[in-house]
Parts: sequence; structure tokens; C-alpha cells
Amino acid sequence: MADYILAIDQGTSSSRAILFNREGELVHVAQEEFPQYFPNDGWVEHEPEEIWHSVKHTIEEVLAKLQPGDTVAGIGITNQRETTVVWDRETGKPIHRAIVWQDRRTAEFCLQLKDQGLQDQVQAKTGLLIDPYFSATKVRWLLDNVTGARDAAQQGHLAFGTIDTYILWKLTEGRAHRTDATNASRTMMFNIHDQVWDGDLLAMFDVPASILPEVCDSAADFGVCNASMFGIELPILSMIGDQQAALVGQTCFEQGMAKSTYGTGCFMIVNTGDHALKSENRLLTTIAYRLNGKTTYALEGSIFVAGAAGQWLRDGLKLLENAAESQALAESTPLNHGVYLVPAFTGLGAPYWDPDARGGLLGLTRDTGIKELVSAALQSVCYQTKDLLCAMEADGQELKSLRVDGGMVANDWVMQFLADILDTTVERPQIIETTALGAAYLAGLQAGVYVSLAELGQSWSCERRFSASLDDTDRQALYAGWLEAVKRVMTN
Ligand code: G3P
Repeated sequence: MADYILAIDQGTSSSRAILFNREGELVHVAQEEFPQYFPNDGWVEHEPEEIWHSVKHTIEEVLAKLQPGDTVAGIGITNQRETTVVWDRETGKPIHRAIVWQDRRTAEFCLQLKDQGLQDQVQAKTGLLIDPYFSATKVRWLLDNVTGARDAAQQGHLAFGTIDTYILWKLTEGRAHRTDATNASRTMMFNIHDQVWDGDLLAMFDVPASILPEVCDSAADFGVCNASMFGIELPILSMIGDQQAALVGQTCFEQGMAKSTYGTGCFMIVNTGDHALKSENRLLTTIAYRLNGKTTYALEGSIFVAGAAGQWLRDGLKLLENAAESQALAESTPLNHGVYLVPAFTGLGAPYWDPDARGGLLGLTRDTGIKELVSAALQSVCYQTKDLLCAMEADGQELKSLRVDGGMVANDWVMQFLADILDTTVERPQIIETTALGAAYLAGLQAGVYVSLAELGQSWSCERRFSASLDDTDRQALYAGWLEAVKRVMTN
């Protein structure tokens, strides 16, 4: 049996390649950031070729650490979801930069669709709410705004993919054009009940079926990367959106188990089993994973800015040298300093769904300083999680505890405040690289390294539990201040 599984975690800010051993331990990791482009207010783009190069370099870097005789079972890909690439099937060249999930350029078109009363139809088929976040209106924008694109698409010359699909295409040198059900479920063109690209939706978004990838299970034989590329032949054995991958990495395989991942954004997902629970509280119904043709569903709350608020403090305002400093600064100020940051830099996601909202910093006084700003930024992540938890509970999904992961969870202060404001136990696992781990687990299942989800469930272990200790009155007062601040930035 092979020694390692290679996970590719292609995120919004960086790409990582990670070698896991059979025990699910992280053995080697390589990471590379790539440029972000902000060509207009609310627009966010990536250069697909730059993403691909970062993926390629990181794979090369980790494979170089293998010893002679070491074997790799295959690749699992996990990725930033919704981000949209359209490329020429013949040359493999993208027709435009990728339009990133955070991009709001199609807000007006989304509003028109909502005004036409199409929200219910879209939600019934896809589980999603009409928003620029999802791929469909981004594809339409590309076909309408890149000269000649629509004609080329009609003639079958173009291919669409989310980032998983684009990387697969590159790894297989154009031989495989596939995605998995989780990524498909974020495009707003995929019927999550029938598991097919939906003709009505394709007509609504004016997207020709010829550009779409084939949709597979999340663990499947997606294609093979020939030995000519990295020196060894590597089958691609799993593809799964990064938030769903984290759910798998956290082994939340039972109904009611939930995780929250703090990366660029924050995404809280609760497993709802074989039931596609329709949200009445503006959450998303989505596919958690599809294995052996069986779909497991989830309810998701998506927040656009979490770690990105820290990045803004560090790179935009230059208030911090590194993320680690933020903990000491936050610890040096009381919780109730009265400053609120609503980081609606690219609008507000769940449960507000206001693409036109922009960020706000409220409650400033003459003595407000760096530590209050830093504390407010960290608190905003926790308040937003609370918004999601309230919506999930209102939808009838009670959570006993919450498993957390992503870079930000290393910050003990944030984790304690999260437990306090949620009034829920927060569990931080031994391995916080759960996104990559989830992709590796699924690739391992496909390769026969692991036998079942139940076996994987045994491997989860908790590093630290944070229990709520804040007084109820204080909790309510702090959260009421947040809700007030959100109201001030909302436009709808
Ligand atoms: O839906 C967007 C999400 O998949 C991005 O995740 O980790 O890159 O913030 P992340």
C-alpha cells in the first residue's frame, strides 16, 4: 500500500501541497501566495495561470522531499469554491482572469432576477439564494463581456470550470474536464436533488451546456497526471470544495455535526444527512459530499470576510506585523470597548445577503487605539459566526458543539470569545489542516487506503475545548451592539 497521499489545497490567498501519511499525519507541506487583483469597486480577480504555477511549484516542492522508494497513492484536490474560469479547449488559455467568489460585479443582474420573482425557483433547485457569490452570473458576465466568447462557447470551443476543474485540466493536460458534486452545487446551475445541470437554470443564466464539466462523486477516478509532469504518475482520486473538505477532515459524518472554518472567509456547515433541509433563514442548502452515488447534504452559512479582516489590518492599515500579534493586542483591552468593525468589504453574506453593503467602523471615540481596532476585527468574526448559529437554530438545527479549523483558530483569545459569544463549546482538533486532510481522506478512500467513513471518524481527536464562561447579560449586550452596527451598513 502507498506511503503517502498528496492533497492540493487551492485557497483564495494561497496554494498548498501537503503530503499526508496513511495515519493522516501531515508530513511535508509547501505553500505559495499569488497576486489578488481588484480592478474595480467590489471586483476581485485571480490570474488562472498564476494559480496553476503556484500549484505546480508547491507540488514540486513537496515531491522533492520524498525518499527513493516512497510511493504516493494519488492526489486529492480541494479548492476555493465558486471562483469561475473559462478557457479555450484547444489552447488551454483562459479567456479572462478568474472571477473570484468574493466578486460583486453581477449584483445588478442578480437584483433583476430577484425582482422577476425567480428566487424561489432557484432556491428550490439549487438550495442557494440568488447572489453574485455563485458561479452562474460570473460565467454569463464572461460570455457577454469578452469579445467573441459567446460565439466560441456556442460552437463548443470553450470550457468552464471552478478551480478544481481548471487544476484537473492542467494536471491531465486537457484530457479531463470534470468536477465533483460539491463544487457543482455552488455554481447555481446544478440541481442538487436530481444531481444534474439544470436546463431551466442554464436558460435563465444564458449558459450553453457545452461548456460544462462532467459531474462525478467527490471520490472518483478523475484522471491521471502523467509521469512526464512530476516524475511519477499520479491519479487524481478526489475533488471537493474546500468547506466541504473541512467537514470531511473534521469527520462530521453524522447528522447535526458541525464545523466552522476560518480562512479568508468563514464557513459554518452542519451535516443534515440525506435530507436537503430548506432554510427559512437565508442559509444555503448544499451538498456535503457524494460518495458511491449517495448524496449527503448540509446547511451552510457563508461569511465573506474573516481572516481577510486580519490581512486588512496587516497589509492595508499596517497596524500589525503578523497575525500572531493580534492576540496580545486583543488581550490588552476589555471586551466591551464599544468599537465594532463590520467587515462588509465585499458586501455581506449569510444571513444578510447584501452585496452593496460596505464595511463600517463604529463606536470610535477620541481614545480609540490600535488595540480596540484589532479586538473589534477579531470580534467581528465571532459575531458573524453567532449570526449563522442563530439562523441554523431558527432552521431547527441545534448544535451541541462546534469543531473549528483554519489559520485563525490558533488564536486562543478568538476561540474563547467565540465560545463566549456563541454560548457553545468550541472544539479545536489536533490537526487544524482539516481542509487538506478531507481531500486526502477521500483520495485515500478511493485508493483503498481507508475502508470507510466510520474508520476515519475514529481518527479525530480534540486538542483543546473552549467553554463559554461569559455572563449572559454581557453576552447579550455585546451581541446587541453588533446587530446595531450591522444595521448601520446595510442597504437593503
Ligand atoms: O466559498 C468560498 C470558499 O470556498 C473560500 O474558502 O478558505 O479560500 O476562504 P477560503
